[in-house]
Amino acid sequence: MELYVDSANVKTIKELKKWLPIDGVTVNPSIISAERKPLFKLLDELLVLSDKYLHVQVISALKEDIIKEAERLHSISDKIIVKIPVSEQGLAAIKEIDTARIKVTATAIFSLTQALSAAKAGASYLAPYVSRLDSIEQSGVKLVKEMKYIIDKHQYSAKIIAASIKTSNQVKELLKTGVRAMTLSPEIMLQSHRHHLTDRAVAIFREDWDSVYKKFELDS
Ligand code: E4P
Repeated sequence: MELYVDSANVKTIKELKKWLPIDGVTVNPSIISAERKPLFKLLDELLVLSDKYLHVQVISALKEDIIKEAERLHSISDKIIVKIPVSEQGLAAIKEIDTARIKVTATAIFSLTQALSAAKAGASYLAPYVSRLDSIEQSGVKLVKEMKYIIDKHQYSAKIIAASIKTSNQVKELLKTGVRAMTLSPEIMLQSHRHHLTDRAVAIFREDWDSVYKKFELDS
């Protein structure tokens, strides 16, 4: 299971990486814009923080421009996976790109057929937007389950990277589907790992110890 952080904030990612087994970083144009930094300088910084992959989304909307952008992003590093939304133009671009050379994450997936066509076209990752589906009274988790079924049944190599996750409960339900990857915002990353009962347990262990031994010394 690969774990990604959905952020372009270098300081925040560094802090999270101190204690969490994060494999890489995912960004989109909105996330990059929030940093107000020059794109390629920022990508260099994010690459250093991405042990496995840095998923970077194209900004262009037309097939030929998307392909040029994909080539440019790929030329920076093999660690960059090019995120392409599954619009008509996006799917056309995925179909045309040599996906054995330039790895692609098909993103902004809202339907099973979009996922299927992106997998057939050669995408390495499929990113369904869980919360955005929930917000229109559909189920993001249900779509992920259906995607998992189709991918397994037809033995596509594409991995699902669950995206647009807004609650710890969604994290739990998505983990149970067997997704191969997940990207979490720093807020959800913290919220889904921290538990007040863990902190309480640690405090009680220490109180019990100190009540008998007064203090802990490694070489005593
Ligand atoms: C990740 O790849 C997506 O860009 C991201 O998860 C979208 O999330 P949002 O719905 O919070 O913008």
